Amino acid sequence: MRTQIAIIGGGPSGLLLSQLLHRSGISSVVLERKTRKYVQGRIRAGVLETGMVDLLRTAGVAKRMDAEGFIHDHTKIAYGNEVFEIDLKRLTGTPVMVYGQTEVTRDLYDARDSMGGDIRFNVENVVIHGADGDAPFVTYDANGTAHRIECDYIAGCDGFHGVSRQTIPRAMRKEYEKVYPFGWLGILSETPPVDDELIYANSERGFALCSMRNANLSRYYIQCSLSDKPEDWTDAAFWAELKRRIPQETAEALITGPAIEKSIAPLRSFVTEPMRWGRLFLCGDAAHIVPPTGAKGLNTAASDIHYLFDGLRDFYRDGSCEGLDAYSQKALARVWKAERFSWWMSNLLHRFPDQSDFDLKMQQAEIAFLRDNENAQRVMAENYVGLPY
Ligand code: FAD
Ligand code: DHB
Repeated sequence: MRTQIAIIGGGPSGLLLSQLLHRSGISSVVLERKTRKYVQGRIRAGVLETGMVDLLRTAGVAKRMDAEGFIHDHTKIAYGNEVFEIDLKRLTGTPVMVYGQTEVTRDLYDARDSMGGDIRFNVENVVIHGADGDAPFVTYDANGTAHRIECDYIAGCDGFHGVSRQTIPRAMRKEYEKVYPFGWLGILSETPPVDDELIYANSERGFALCSMRNANLSRYYIQCSLSDKPEDWTDAAFWAELKRRIPQETAEALITGPAIEKSIAPLRSFVTEPMRWGRLFLCGDAAHIVPPTGAKGLNTAASDIHYLFDGLRDFYRDGSCEGLDAYSQKALARVWKAERFSWWMSNLLHRFPDQSDFDLKMQQAEIAFLRDNENAQRVMAENYVGLPY
């Protein structure tokens, strides 16, 4: 069969691209290796930048988000027993939206269903052919049968462990990586959030984050060892450790309950350059990873999709390759700034195993400077709500 755009990966990047393309009359097929239930069940991002919120509106998938999402004008930083607020709205004119990745994904699947979108689940052995020539195609297996899709372009939206990036010859790409010596243990619990705002906490015992999904669904994270397994942590041990890492007043207000999900994510900064090879374009986690501190991963995936969609729309509308030719450079310029912010915020808030007394004093001084200096708060706020596309 033939389509205009073959999209590898049915996560948020691939789904959003196929939805935007459809609304511009451009055909696509999405190939997803897992089941729909699996993709929808992955508990990940919770904070959406205004740019992403606007893009979801452009894609016509914002109805439920606008009705059920929570606008947050502030975020909080805690240090020991002290807490201060960053007034995002006052400093930047823009809030953020708390709306889970699971919900974004569900809305995108529902929209693709209602428009008859072609999404193929459980596909195996996806291989990209001829991306450096004029007649690319993708092969894959499904239910024991081999399939082939011819296309104009391929969007590699298959996450960090996908095949798209690996298709680009090693000599044609440069990878930049930093692996952090700890992970995040996260739980979801059907309890009211401990605070109206998100609290990012730096404590003697390591980082903690109090987040939420709705009035009766809370999301909490604590920095953990890379050797920890989720099953090593009973719910009681998690709650006890979280309470030790957040201000006493917050700990006293915390309502605990059974964890309905518990998982560990390693922390990594990663970028591959360029994000295009011939007719293959990399988007989202396939091209870059940020540590989750600062909530930039999904949002950066969305800005990639914005640039790629613009380029593809112009190509099919006017025959112009300008946008496609600028894709890698435009996406990377924004990606590196998000990488810097996530790296900075991770360094600010975590305890590192090799941290010297001097390093610790620098961290404390930086937090005190942020607390006392409105310019520093504005820099943080501008990055947190998302730099312009
Ligand atoms: P993915 O979501 O990884 O989707 C890729 C898809 O491709 C998957 O469905 C996969 O099954 C499929 N696939 C892989 N290989 C193949 C193959 N060979 N063939 C076919 N399909 C394939 N980001 C934020 O912006 N804000 C946050 O608050 C935030 N919090 C996070 C918290 C945690 C704990 C974690 C782990 C991440 C968080 N992120 C956050 C990051 C965010 O979840 C990711 O950046 C986002 O999922 C990237 O979307 P994607 O579509 O590019 O990749
Ligand atoms: C969430 C995750 C993040 O990485 C973050 O910075 C804020 C919130 C969350 O899952 O709610």
